[in-house]
Amino acid sequence: MKKVTKAVFPVAGLGSRFLPATKASPKEMMPIVDKPLIQYAVEEAVSAGVTDLVFITGRSKRAIEDHFDKAYELETELQMRNKAELLKIVRDTVPKGVNCIYIRQPEALGLGHAVLCAAPVVGDEPFAVLLADDLLDGQGGEPVLKQMVDVYNYNRCSVLGVMNVPREDTKQYGIVSTERDVGDVQRVTGIVEKPKPEDAPSTQAVVGRYVLTGRIFDHLRNLKPGAGGELQLTDAIASLLREEAVLSYQFKGVRYDCGSKFGYLQATVELGLKHPEVGAAFAEYLSQRGL
Ligand code: UTP
Repeated sequence: MKKVTKAVFPVAGLGSRFLPATKASPKEMMPIVDKPLIQYAVEEAVSAGVTDLVFITGRSKRAIEDHFDKAYELETELQMRNKAELLKIVRDTVPKGVNCIYIRQPEALGLGHAVLCAAPVVGDEPFAVLLADDLLDGQGGEPVLKQMVDVYNYNRCSVLGVMNVPREDTKQYGIVSTERDVGDVQRVTGIVEKPKPEDAPSTQAVVGRYVLTGRIFDHLRNLKPGAGGELQLTDAIASLLREEAVLSYQFKGVRYDCGSKFGYLQATVELGLKHPEVGAAFAEYLSQRGL
């Protein structure tokens, strides 16, 4: 039985909604309180059993590589100043036994193209895809990707993380139709990218978490440009569906769309309130402001 041990992190998008912050640094390096978005996603993947992290990078990739690399000068400096706690934080960005692999996406041709760039490393194994700008806070502390890998292990087919959205928002997401509409796990019968509210087959939106079988790569290779002129992962999944079962999974937890300013601010407030160091003081501050 093949386990999910590889995760793909597409981080080559333009991040245009966050300019100028993303002019020289990828949006996945933007912090929520004190951790960059990409580190939240990496921690989620590692706690789901992933040991190979495959980053699909684009321009200004260095910040991400440096973040997960050894930082000799900084570590020496912290050691000399006896800052043991900070030293541990710096060293623990990647746990022992976990490998980082970087692949360059030469042009931002779309999410489908970004995932296809991982094919030489992933082969025909099942793998996860995490979009770090979707920050998912799993219910009861259970990471959302872990929930999805459990669904994969039981059913042995691709799993898409979904949540219900207001109908007027369907044009921002991939939307699935399913065989039935009760229960957390459903068989997907169709998927469309960014449908208008009146055309959307449902209000079940795909968020940035996928567990896919290696068969997806053949479908990605045959892709034609879709919505927005981009090579869309959604279109490859629509094609995969005709060959093998794909499931949707209504995850347990809260999703923050950190690719948008509003979602980013929401995540900052909610995770700030939960933060062990500043949470209590921040709550006090908000209540003094009458918030
Ligand atoms: P988005 O649709 O959020 O696009 O990509 P974006 O370019 O990052 O951001 P905006 O819309 O311009 O503000 C979804 C995910 O897919 C990755 C992005 O990095 C993001 O994680 N992506 C997208 C790629 O890696 N390559 C691409 O060609 C497109």
